[in-house]
Amino acid sequence: MTISKKVINAQVMESNSHVFRCPICSSGMVMVDKSQLVCLDNHSFDLSKNGYINLAPQAHVTKYDKTLFEARKTVMSSGFFNPVLEYITAIASEHLEGREQAFILDAGCGEGTHLSAILSQLPGDTIGAGIDLAKEGITAASKEYPGSIWSVADLANCPFQANQFDVILNILSPANYAEFTRLLKSDGLFIKAVPESGYLKELRAIFYEEGERKDDSDPVVRFKEHFDSVTTKRLTYLFPLAPALLAPLIRMTPLTWGASNEKIEEALGTAIENITIDFTIIMGVKRVD
Ligand SMILES: C[S@@+](CC[C@H](N)C(=O)[O-])C[C@H]1O[C@@H](n2cnc3c(N)ncnc32)[C@H](O)[C@@H]1O
Ligand SMILES: [Zn+2]
Repeated sequence: MTISKKVINAQVMESNSHVFRCPICSSGMVMVDKSQLVCLDNHSFDLSKNGYINLAPQAHVTKYDKTLFEARKTVMSSGFFNPVLEYITAIASEHLEGREQAFILDAGCGEGTHLSAILSQLPGDTIGAGIDLAKEGITAASKEYPGSIWSVADLANCPFQANQFDVILNILSPANYAEFTRLLKSDGLFIKAVPESGYLKELRAIFYEEGERKDDSDPVVRFKEHFDSVTTKRLTYLFPLAPALLAPLIRMTPLTWGASNEKIEEALGTAIENITIDFTIIMGVKRVD
């Protein structure tokens, strides 16, 4: 008999229900009938049919929709991000060495491919949790990668108790340093991946006018205000882009939001043989006062 994805996901949540915190009143939660998380004050949240839990008190409509996440999955599954993921996995593995059971959170996990790829290389008793405000991303993750905790949630109001996570990942997503500090164990590690100026520059050249600037605030400076032992690693490489990946690449990135149909057509007609990936990985441990 095959066990449904909902049951697999519900089992992980039930065995780890002590990590949850009600997003409305901040009290502890228990799982009831493998189908609901209920807090001490009786706020209840149902598991979806694929076994994710929606712990965002309000519904959020985001521009991250189903087709964007399908495109992201296609591109990410092509090996596009492998050097970045391999680096993050090596850092996380080193940090987790010797721990009996570990928890890793991906804050802003999208459709879950990164967390799943990283978990597959970590010891089997590492529990993964992925949160994202976009329901479509979490729906896809819970269907595709059962066995982790998948939750629609706001990373500014994470539905977890303090001091639970050994590692928090934050890849191409907004951060909330106060929340991440609260959630990390006292020796917990935070790993953030931020895009640099070369990231997808072949697409930027089409979609952005010359001289148009992106945000140039330095994330490392902000990071150092909150974490200790901060180190960085720049990863820059060219990924050979199979022609079939151009359309999903254009679809998956917020860079093309607001672009006219003419621009999209122009980009689709461009022969991009290689695409630049350019990231800084920033790592730091929780500051304990
Ligand atoms: C560029 S995507 C990156 C997704 C994934 N980490 C990846 O690299 O494929 C940014 C993600 O951040 C999520 N996000 C933005 N604000 C958020 C918030 N306040 N709480 C949770 N997720 C958020 C979006 O829904 C989106 O999935
Ligand atoms: Zn509550």
